[in-house]
Amino acid sequence: MKGKLYGVSVGPGKSDLMTLRSKQVLESCDIIGYPVKSTGERSVALSIIEPVIGLEGRDVREFVFSMDPRDEVRRQHENVAIGELLSILESGKDVAMVTLGDIGVYSTYMYVDRAVRDAGYETEVIPGVNSFSHGAALAGLPLMLGDEGFCVIPMAKGREDRLEVALDSFENIVVMKAFKSIGRIAELLDSHGIPRECATVMSNVGMDDEYIGPLDTERDYGYFTTVLIKRCI
Ligand SMILES: C[S@@+](CC[C@H](N)C(=O)[O-])C[C@H]1O[C@@H](n2cnc3c(N)ncnc32)[C@H](O)[C@@H]1O
Repeated sequence: MKGKLYGVSVGPGKSDLMTLRSKQVLESCDIIGYPVKSTGERSVALSIIEPVIGLEGRDVREFVFSMDPRDEVRRQHENVAIGELLSILESGKDVAMVTLGDIGVYSTYMYVDRAVRDAGYETEVIPGVNSFSHGAALAGLPLMLGDEGFCVIPMAKGREDRLEVALDSFENIVVMKAFKSIGRIAELLDSHGIPRECATVMSNVGMDDEYIGPLDTERDYGYFTTVLIKRCI
């Protein structure tokens, strides 16, 4: 019998925000896989699951998904990783691939899931707590209320126009991958006449050096930085 691939959300940082279903799948699978951008990289997702399920004696394997700007390099790594997964599944073993936050939110895993399903293997996606829900909860802010709208955008270089459109259209905006763009977000709020106090930075939520507070343009932020903008508060 062929193995099954599970995409397992592990939450944004605190181990106790993993779901019972994620724990169950991670405890019962044959192999735990984790994605890295380059060989030997530390995995935050692994460090989240370790206190809950323990990794000693477990078969834990890394899968490299490069973030190289060249399409062909990224695709080559992806093909290698998918090839490795398919041969494990063919041997009858189940693999659980862990993903930070919720797996449906900007996760490479979903490309893999499609490729593995297209190759004729069974897959299952386990949802989880995403980073902005946890950050908003810690900040004591609702994501949306009543008939307000809500949108999520990544702050990708050269696509700042999307934040302008969002500021004109939605009461509540989550800006992900915002770590290099805090200054630019502040400028766009100013040019749209929106007070900077309407933005809350949620950085390293649930991790060491957690910062949940105002847009401080002098501060350095790491990759795990998200901004919640609430126009009507
Ligand atoms: C590739 S996306 C992954 C999102 C993740 N699947 C989720 O559900 O939040 C990476 C972005 O998610 C956000 N992020 C992930 N973990 C975070 C955390 N612990 N604190 C703040 N932002 C986080 C940041 O905006 C980061 O640039």
